[in-house]
Amino acid sequence: MKALVLSGGAGTRLRPFSYSMPKQLIPIANRPVLAHVMDNLRVLGITEIGIVVGERAHEIHAALGDGSELGVRITYIQQDAPRGLAHCVAIAREFLGDDDFVMYLGDNMLPGGIADVAEDFARRRPAAQVLVHKVADPRAFGVAEVDARGRVTALVEKPREPRSDLALIGVYFFTAAVHRAVDAIGPSRRGELEITDALQWLVEHGREVHAHVHSGYWKDTGRVEDVLECNREVLDALKPYLGGEVDAESELIGPVVVEDGARVVRSRIVGPAIIGGGSLVEDSHIGPHTSLGRDCAIISAEVGYSIALDGASVHHARIQSSLIGRSAAVTRAPENLHRLVVGDHTRVEVAAR
Ligand code: G1P
Repeated sequence: MKALVLSGGAGTRLRPFSYSMPKQLIPIANRPVLAHVMDNLRVLGITEIGIVVGERAHEIHAALGDGSELGVRITYIQQDAPRGLAHCVAIAREFLGDDDFVMYLGDNMLPGGIADVAEDFARRRPAAQVLVHKVADPRAFGVAEVDARGRVTALVEKPREPRSDLALIGVYFFTAAVHRAVDAIGPSRRGELEITDALQWLVEHGREVHAHVHSGYWKDTGRVEDVLECNREVLDALKPYLGGEVDAESELIGPVVVEDGARVVRSRIVGPAIIGGGSLVEDSHIGPHTSLGRDCAIISAEVGYSIALDGASVHHARIQSSLIGRSAAVTRAPENLHRLVVGDHTRVEVAAR
């Protein structure tokens, strides 16, 4: 079995971060989402991985290389523009051959892994197997109707009036039967070749599409709220590690990782929390559910339920529920007012006066 990981797409919901980095590289517990995806694939024994990349190909290549560090072999497949998930299957035809494969959207996080679904697929071997998850509002997702035996009877992409509460998770298992379906469908209303339409084609042509209900944790890390929430979930399983320096006046409570080369001075860290290598935390309070990347500086500040990317700094400020970009600086204004230098499509929430 092979894997096809999709890492194109514009990531408009994650602006401004997606202006400067592909959303699939946003760190969850200090590792890019794509590294978590690779972990889940390697556990299945899959080593042949195709990654479909778009205009941010070079950054994804720089992060993952040929995959050898992650124990896999990566083939990069270039997509000229975001033309839909089924288009990705079409351009990966040569890489996939006639093998079974799992298609995995590079912004989907399933921290519990997908081993049970893979087993289910291997045992039943339907033409395709999808993962579905009950959600309160499925309108932002592909939606599946499923009969009592778990057979999918209909699928619709982002319906205005969903006919079930089962959203499609971005992990799909396919046999080579999918290629005929992909060749047969045309572009949707939004002009893309939808994988949902290819699955619907299989259903209409009498092929079995099986639904596996995933009851564990799942997040499409499309929005900042989702990224923070997912970070919390993954940090909840954090194993403490003390590599850096923590002075006698500091206190670590609960599971805390202080990576090699990090320094904690006169501060209180409430886990789960990670202080990235080379970072300095001084006279501050960090956590819980907070991760700092490499070379951050948090001085006389409070940072909780947040992610700071590499090189970010916070001085004399209290920050909650925030995502702070690479080398971004949050500092105290000289007077009691807010002074902002804010990039495009950034959202700032300041304390009410
Ligand atoms: C895609 C799929 C959708 C699926 C979702 C899961 O949507 O088209 O069917 O439910 O991923 O993450 P997108 O996130 O590209 O809008």
